[in-house]
Amino acid sequence: MSTGCANPFAMQQMVPGGTNINMGVLSAPQAPSGMPASLNMGMQGGSTSVTSLVAPQKAASVKHFTLVAQPAHLTLGSTFQTDAWTFNGTSPGPTLRVEQGDLVVVTLVNHLSFGVTIHWHGIDVPNADDGVAGVTQNAVEPGQSFVYRFFANDPGTYWYHSHQFSEAETDGGLYGMIIVDPLKSTFHADVDYSVALHEWNGSNNQSVLALNNTVGVLNKAARPGQWVRLRIVNTSSTTSGNPQLVTLVGAPFKVIALDGHDLNGPQWLNETPLPLGAAQRYDLLFQMPSTDSVTLLTGDDSDPQHYQDAPALVLGQGALPAVLPGVKPWFDLTKYGQPAHSAITPQSHFDQTYNLTLDNQVGSSLGRMGMTYTINGKVFPATGMLMVKEGQIIKIHFDNQSDLYHPMHLHGHTFVVLARNGRVLTGSPVYLDTILIAPHTSYDIAFLANNPGLWMLHCHNLLHANWGMDMMVMYNNISTPYTVGKTSGNIPD
Ligand code: C2O
Ligand code: CU
Repeated sequence: MSTGCANPFAMQQMVPGGTNINMGVLSAPQAPSGMPASLNMGMQGGSTSVTSLVAPQKAASVKHFTLVAQPAHLTLGSTFQTDAWTFNGTSPGPTLRVEQGDLVVVTLVNHLSFGVTIHWHGIDVPNADDGVAGVTQNAVEPGQSFVYRFFANDPGTYWYHSHQFSEAETDGGLYGMIIVDPLKSTFHADVDYSVALHEWNGSNNQSVLALNNTVGVLNKAARPGQWVRLRIVNTSSTTSGNPQLVTLVGAPFKVIALDGHDLNGPQWLNETPLPLGAAQRYDLLFQMPSTDSVTLLTGDDSDPQHYQDAPALVLGQGALPAVLPGVKPWFDLTKYGQPAHSAITPQSHFDQTYNLTLDNQVGSSLGRMGMTYTINGKVFPATGMLMVKEGQIIKIHFDNQSDLYHPMHLHGHTFVVLARNGRVLTGSPVYLDTILIAPHTSYDIAFLANNPGLWMLHCHNLLHANWGMDMMVMYNNISTPYTVGKTSGNIPD
């Protein structure tokens, strides 16, 4: 291989061939110059303040955690180092493990030089604990702390990340996983592992994909015959904006949950590529073969037809497969598993239906000129609000008219997927908090408005969120004492 490294992509191609690369120094996130001085997202004169929307003080079972936001220099495998912002010195931060029904109490302490928050992605927390700077709290300033309290009622795989300058802070390392174990297991597993896929971005558009704490091969123990539950989260947006592809080689597997929610009657799959939009989770179940290992492969972001040697996860005794498989047709959540009862179906009565068209165009966002990502032709904050009332069933029709993927995330609620391109789902009901919307594709989703507050709805490709693709879902009569903008320094994305 040539040793000329003038082209940063040439350096990227060498990972993990032994060349050390160092992403260098992160600079503190900066507000766009055209950020308004002060924007209040609540309802003028609203009688319920977001600060009153909290969990009860007491519960039968309480789990306490402390997460300290702090800088660290990370060595992610033998070939890659980077400066990062972390929780408790590692990225991913600690995996928080709780049981269904626990009251979770997390103290965030900020030892960074700029404000941070924590958003509990996918967990339907009370609004005051949603962690959105300028909407549900002020960013936690250097030297300060903040206590989050919420019930973990829905078992499954979730994650957490900063929601102050979330594009910079989440990409820069401020994230981790939170797993809620069910009181009664629906699937038996002997070992249970979780991995976060994270793209680290440096200057010159260099980017490197890591699996937990390595850009190389991660090894986990599993004995022949054991059942393995493997939880996978995509904690970053890829440079291309495409979903992250992963697949499992060495054993047939089932997808038993999406975004933490069990699927009904999942079928066996073989080397099926799983598209993981930013923020999405897949839980896989498989049995270790009697000899040999099982490997989780990742796709090559620059060449969607191929998997790559690293990062990868090898379970059990063995090495990477000698020959990587080709990329087959992708997993399709609209026809996987078996139908089952669902509280909301395409036949339900919808109290409100909102149509949201997703697109992108060159324009201005918060005083910057560049590529903007739009909802109904507008950029945040001009995108406005979806007004809802408690108890209503709300349908959203997303129509992606762009050539890009948009993983759209709704805070505070789990939604059901009704249809893609007008065709209803034929397999298991699918409950998500983030839906990956492919180019020129539409989806209908619906949710029960059962969690009063002021909630974000945004693209989780955080570059898109930073450049316009956000809006609010607002319940009747909710006010907030917090503001977004230069005066408060609160910038959610
Ligand atoms: Cu994962 Cu608005 O966030
Ligand atoms: Cu997007």
